[in-house]
Amino acid sequence: SAAADKPGLTLLIAAPRGFCAGVDRAIEIVERALDRYGAPVYVRHEIVHNRFVVDGLKAKGAIFVEELDEVPDGAPVVFSAHGVPKSVPAEAQRRGLDYLDATCPLVSKVHRQAERQIEANRHILFIGHRGHPEVIGTMGQVQPGEMTLVETVADVARLDFPPEKALSFLTQTTLSVDDTAKIVSAIKTKFPNIVAPKAEDICYATSNRQAAVKEIAPASDLVLVIGSPNSSNSLRLVEVAQRCGTTARLIQRADEIEQSWLNGVGTLGLTAGASAPEKLVREVVDLLSQWRTVEEHTLVSAVEKMVFKLPRQLTE
Ligand code: F3S
Repeated sequence: SAAADKPGLTLLIAAPRGFCAGVDRAIEIVERALDRYGAPVYVRHEIVHNRFVVDGLKAKGAIFVEELDEVPDGAPVVFSAHGVPKSVPAEAQRRGLDYLDATCPLVSKVHRQAERQIEANRHILFIGHRGHPEVIGTMGQVQPGEMTLVETVADVARLDFPPEKALSFLTQTTLSVDDTAKIVSAIKTKFPNIVAPKAEDICYATSNRQAAVKEIAPASDLVLVIGSPNSSNSLRLVEVAQRCGTTARLIQRADEIEQSWLNGVGTLGLTAGASAPEKLVREVVDLLSQWRTVEEHTLVSAVEKMVFKLPRQLTE
């Protein structure tokens, strides 16, 4: 039917959304490694949690593995943006592997803080999601027993350290800003002398994306978040939108959208997690435009200028 026959849809697009500086850098490291060494380049774990990104790099000759023992001797290997336990570079070194570390510098910063707290003889409470690779990597910076994982306020209530115990806390970079504030406040109430990180460990990209979705969600009938089910920061964006009282769904790509979701929807909010390429946002806008006459608005709540340097091995 003619464009004029299509019902209207107001589309509110959050900004910032999508790629952060750490994801940009991690993808560029794999691409440059492919240029420098030629295919195949091995990557330990999904370089960033996005299937579209991973498939694109596979097509260029990257081979994704979960553990180092799957990397043949002599092959170059890249560690993912989420960071790795200390045992991983140690093992790569032992085997004489040429490795590149794509750990986000903001995750590495938390790793160094963890080391410093242990040097100062403080036990660390680490706020994060069990099983996430970043949590495994950060906990792997210290010896077993030196760091306790805290996921919820209820976990804080169960901690039974004596009052004189020297404690500090650190957090995963991609947590919910609001939930973390509650957990930190419970920790500080229970352990008034606990040493806090100098600056918030939740990264700029995570907090900016959560603030941006708060700008679009209240005015939207439905919010779509583009991201992978294993992407922590994408899942948090869905929660933030839902807590604004709006229905929100996580989608990996446009083809997951069912037309029936738009029933009764006059305003749709759209954002993307830090590992989701902008191309996927345009794909969604294009699909919506087949069904509706879309009026697109971008709501800018912050402007990001962060850029991280590449590892020296790739710039020399
Ligand atoms: Fe780094 Fe934050 Fe992105 S920790 S990888 S800048 S989401």
